[in-house]
This record gives sequence, structure tokens and C-alpha cells, in this order.
Amino acid sequence: MNQGSISLIPKTYHRLSPLQSSIKPQIETTGEEAIASIASATSSSEIESLRVSLLGKKGSITGMMSLMRDLQNEEKKEFGRTVNEVKGNIEKALEARKEEVEREELMVKMESERIDVTTPGIMSQGVGRRHPLSMTMERATEIFMSLGYDTVTECEESPEIESDYYCFEALNCPPDHPARDMQDSFYLNDPDGPEETYMLRTHTSAVQIHQMEKRKPPFRIVAPGRVYRKDDIDATHSLIFHQVEILAIEERGVLTLGDLKGTVEYFLKQMFGPEIKVRFRGSYFPFTEPSMEVDVWFRGKWLEVLGCGMVDPRVLEKAGIDPEKYSGFAAGFGAERFAMVTYGITDIREFYNGDLRFLDQFPHFKDQGMKAFLEGRGTSDVEAEEGGGDKEEKVEKKEKKKADPPAAGAELDISKLEFKVGTITKVWEHPDSDKLWCEEIDCGEESPRTICSGLRAHYSASDLEGKKVVVFSNLKKRKLGGIPSDGMVLCSFTDDDSKVVLIEPPSDAENGEVCKFEGYEGEPATGNQIDKKKMVQAIMPDLKTDGDGNVVWKGVEMKVGGGTVGGGGLKDVQVG
Ligand code: DAH
Repeated sequence: MNQGSISLIPKTYHRLSPLQSSIKPQIETTGEEAIASIASATSSSEIESLRVSLLGKKGSITGMMSLMRDLQNEEKKEFGRTVNEVKGNIEKALEARKEEVEREELMVKMESERIDVTTPGIMSQGVGRRHPLSMTMERATEIFMSLGYDTVTECEESPEIESDYYCFEALNCPPDHPARDMQDSFYLNDPDGPEETYMLRTHTSAVQIHQMEKRKPPFRIVAPGRVYRKDDIDATHSLIFHQVEILAIEERGVLTLGDLKGTVEYFLKQMFGPEIKVRFRGSYFPFTEPSMEVDVWFRGKWLEVLGCGMVDPRVLEKAGIDPEKYSGFAAGFGAERFAMVTYGITDIREFYNGDLRFLDQFPHFKDQGMKAFLEGRGTSDVEAEEGGGDKEEKVEKKEKKKADPPAAGAELDISKLEFKVGTITKVWEHPDSDKLWCEEIDCGEESPRTICSGLRAHYSASDLEGKKVVVFSNLKKRKLGGIPSDGMVLCSFTDDDSKVVLIEPPSDAENGEVCKFEGYEGEPATGNQIDKKKMVQAIMPDLKTDGDGNVVWKGVEMKVGGGTVGGGGLKDVQVG
């Protein structure tokens, strides 16, 4: 027997009479060490890994217990008692430290999320924005309300728990109808059982039936609501999403397919702007006949956004409306799809994860250039096209010119664009952009103009206040970050945009005076013509400063009041 091997407890234990020797103190030391490391643990995850390494299946204390089988009965008892005692102490220590650490963690969390309710001012507390989905559903509902549709939102009229009857059967989808396979439902009881089946509704079309049962035609309703489908979650699918349903019933023959198409087209134009291209395709829904699907042209592709059709007479009849006397149309669409198109959201999951960084971005594309966005261009493209005042756009503007040369450039000259003298009377920060100043500019007109310009990096508010400037004044009004901007403050700028300098009119020029270029005496164009004929891209690249810093177009000086414009600023650079 080798006394020297005694320290290797597991291997040699059974060959000794361990309890008289150093085993007991060793177990106790192990226990004390364990308790010390528990006391110094600083996170709940650290405590959990200590628990596993000590008391888990392969833990060191558990391992000691297994040595018991090799001991004499007498020894077993005492050994077991010792180990159990150590184990109990460790358990208590773990429990106590866990409680402490969790309390500390909670305090840290609470501190980090603390809101000082005494902070003055609403904006400084970062009050939340509207959720893009709510805005979309509200907007859609409003458009139909303006067409005389009643809203249906009450829980009793638009329940999310539906019977199979309202969700499918009354909508002309019998039990074996293939449409039921299309919509995998969350059933609340056995769909094959003898009782009425209940489910989370798979579409808002169920509301149609409730309304047909409840109302006497003629009527029109719009029903926004939440729906549920068993889908695999990915960037375009979610188990819970939202739809908006419409239904219009009139005396038979009053509402035609043409009316339906007109209504849908009007709605889509209101939603996405008048430029939206809409396409109707024949389709199939059990509750409408004929049925159509509707696509919009979105970023280079047709994108399906809506289903609709003339209400199938069998649906009317089932709901107690005489199809000989009444007819109508219905439509339904997914609110998420609309919001994704409107706000440029590419992953449906963004709507639901409550990330403030996501929500803080709204209002978004919608206010900055829907047309460009629908066409798949960046928002700054449209700003450049529309001759906006944001400095950042100018790079885009140059690129745009290369890619898309204006068609009718030949007869366009600088007289199409109007430049008026104005004085900046007020300057304030744009609420949603740290690059933009908002300015009130007196251009000698009935009321001052509001213009947003990307000058924050180059001028302070006090630099600008009281400054006499040249305003590009016949541009179409457009929103910059949600604020309508009526024109653009003319600046000279270096190619790398590092320097941006205001173009200054001579000191005797009066607010409202229009700058002239000799030899170019044509009438200024309207904002719409400027957009349509891409005049900004055609004309502005030739507007520059000369070697003296004066503004010239194709070498001809810009003049106003008694003299030339802009001398002393940047020389031989672009103006815009
Ligand atoms: N309920 C259909 C769906 O969820 C959408 C729909 C299609 C609604 C045609 C309608 C309609 O009202 O007429 O896919």
C-alpha cells in the first residue's frame, strides 16, 4: 500500500481507511474553496456555471459521493454526512449569492432604463413616433372614409377569434375547398371534432359576413385588423400580420367591375402618389367572382399588393342578402406589404421587435421622395432632380446627369430658372436631420418662404441670420425630412464638397429682385415643367463661379441690383 498516493482521492480512497486520515479535511477544504468562489461570483451566469461544476452530474462534489460505494459501512455513514454537509453549505451559498447578484443586476438595469420625469420639454425625452404600421392602416382607412366608407374596428364586429363558419364556410370555402389549404390556420379546438370549430382568423374577409348579417344595404365598410397564419417566419412572412378589408354593397347593378377598379386605383394613388403604376390581373378567390389581383410597379418589378372582386352571389345569399336585389365588391390587402413599400422596409420582422432605432426613423422615405423610391432610386436622387437645397445631393446630381442625359436639353437656357434676392430672417434646426437648417427667407413676396438647406456643417444659425442670399425660386415645393421646402439657397461648392459658400448678391439688391443673364430673356418655367423636362440637370451644371468668384452661366454673368453676384467667394467652382 502506497501511503504517498493518498492525495489522489478518487483513485486510492478505497484502499485506505480514509476518514482517519486527511480525506475529511480535504473535503471540507474543497467546500470552503467552493464557497469562497461563490462569494466572489459577480453574475448569475457565473453562479450557474459554478453550480454545474460543483453539484452538476459531473461536478466535483457529486463525484465525491460516488466514492462511497467503496467504503465500509461505518465509514460510509460518516463520509456521507460530511459530503452532504459540504453540499448543503454550497447549495445555501449558491442560493444566497444568486439572490444578491440578481438584485444587483436588476438595480443596474433599472438605473440604465431610468426616466427622469422631471426633465422639461417633450422632445428632450425622445417621445415615441408613430409606428409605420399604424400610420399605414390609418392612412388606408382614412382614404376609404373619405369615399364614404364606415370603419369597423370594434372587437364584437371584427373578432380575432372566429368560427370556421365566418372565416371559411360563409365565404364560400366548404371544408374540402382548396383555399383552406392555402391558409394554414391556428385552430383553437379540433377542426375535425363534432363541435363548431374556432380559430384565430386568417383574414379580415370574415368581417364581411358579420357586416352583411348586421347591416341593411346599401353600405360600405372598411375594416382594418390583425390576422394569423401558420407560416414559416422569414423576411416577408410573420405568424401575425394585419389586413385592411373593404366591402361595398348597393342595389344590384349599381356597382360594376369598373367601379371596383376605379376605387382600387384611386386608393393606390392616394396611398403611393399619383405616379404609381397599377396593373390588374384575373385571379381566383372563393368569395368573389370575378376576382382580381392588383400589382404596383415597385423598384423595377410588379409587386402584388391587393386582392379584390365582385362579391359572389352565394356569399350574399348565405349572409341573408338577396343577390337578385343587391350586388357589390370587396377587396383586402396586407398592411405590412403596404408599409414595407411606403417606408422602404425590407424585413417584416422589423415591425414587431420594438427596436427604438428602427422606430426612430419615421417619418421616412414617404416624406422625402416617394416617386424616386418607387422607381428604385435613392431619395437623394429625387432631391437632386427637384433641385433641392441639401448640399449632399449635389454629388448625386452630377452622377444622375451622366446616367440619364436630359432629352430636351438643346433649347433650355438659364432664363427658365428663376433666382431671386432674399434675406434670411429666421433660422432653426430641422427636427429630423442634423444636416439641415430650416430658414425663413423674405423674398419680397406676400409671405416669407421656408427653405431647408444642408448648411449645418458650414454655417452657424447666427452666420445665416440676416444674410442676403440668392434663392432658386421657381422650384416645385417639396418636403425635406417632412418639412416643405420652397426653393433652394444658392451656394458655390468645391468638387469634394469640403467647402460650401453662400452666393451673395450685391448690397444694393432688394429682396424679391430677380437676377438676370444678358442675352437670355425667356420666361421662367413652372416648377412642374422644371421637373418634367429635367431642367435642373440640363441647365445647372453650367452655372459656375468664374476666376473672380462671380456667378456665370456659360460665361455670362449673373446680375442683379447694380452689379454682379457672388464675387469674393469660391472661384472657378460649381454653383447649385
Ligand atoms: N382575404 C384574402 C386574403 O387574405 C384577400 C382578399 C381577396 C380579400 C379578395 C377580399 C377580396 O375582400 O375580394 O388573401
